[in-house]
Amino acid sequence: MMRNIVAGNWKSNKSINEARNWMGEMGEAMDNLPKNVRIMVAVPAPYLAALANEKHPRIHIASQQVSANGHGAFTGEFTADMLVSCGVDYALVGHSERRSDFGETEALVSAKLKQCIESGLGVVLCCGEHLNERDSERQEEVIESQLESALHGMTADDMKNVIVAYEPIWAIGTGRTATADQAAEMHTFIRRWISEKFDRYTAENTSVLYGGSCKPSNAKELFASKDVDGGLIGGASLNSDDFQSLICSFT
Ligand code: 13P
Repeated sequence: MMRNIVAGNWKSNKSINEARNWMGEMGEAMDNLPKNVRIMVAVPAPYLAALANEKHPRIHIASQQVSANGHGAFTGEFTADMLVSCGVDYALVGHSERRSDFGETEALVSAKLKQCIESGLGVVLCCGEHLNERDSERQEEVIESQLESALHGMTADDMKNVIVAYEPIWAIGTGRTATADQAAEMHTFIRRWISEKFDRYTAENTSVLYGGSCKPSNAKELFASKDVDGGLIGGASLNSDDFQSLICSFT
């Protein structure tokens, strides 16, 4: 079981040509990258099928979005099983930008996660607290409530398809990173929560990634904590050289 993961999240960036160039650069560099890291990238939806077809076999493709419903009259939505049929491996669920900017509620996050699990699509479940919640020392309470609500009804077996990403909202795209100690503390909290909710084996086999202004200059320190299994990376995933140095940041 490979817990170390470096996952990019391009958000709404790159043309298809730029995306293909990035993939090409990654393919060329692959032989020099450590083998003990799972590599993933969440690309814009219009490119998913094409990139899943063309990608280097070591790169896992993730969708940034997925429907909370199955097939039916839901214009504009795409389902978890459609993603699977296109060769997509994971979907991000519960990203703070979806929660804050697109009104995704806890109920919607939980419904999306359930659809993914039922279709055999891997999930990167994102959680994270706002600055005011951290300032009032409520971060653990917030994360616990997000995890509890999203994973309600899931079994230890379902957790084999779930990766957790801790993304403090105050650190996303702000240049302000959680200190290695702050990240380590929250990751240990999350792993303990998984252990109590499911079991110790599940906790030890679930990857918990850090997200929020993670970049080549701070990744080594963040990834050195025993409960930080890698990163979900926005800005620094856009450039393939930076992304490669993130993959090389495990010690
Ligand atoms: P940044 O790395 O740009 O802060 O974004 C983090 C993130 O939201 C990844 O999902």
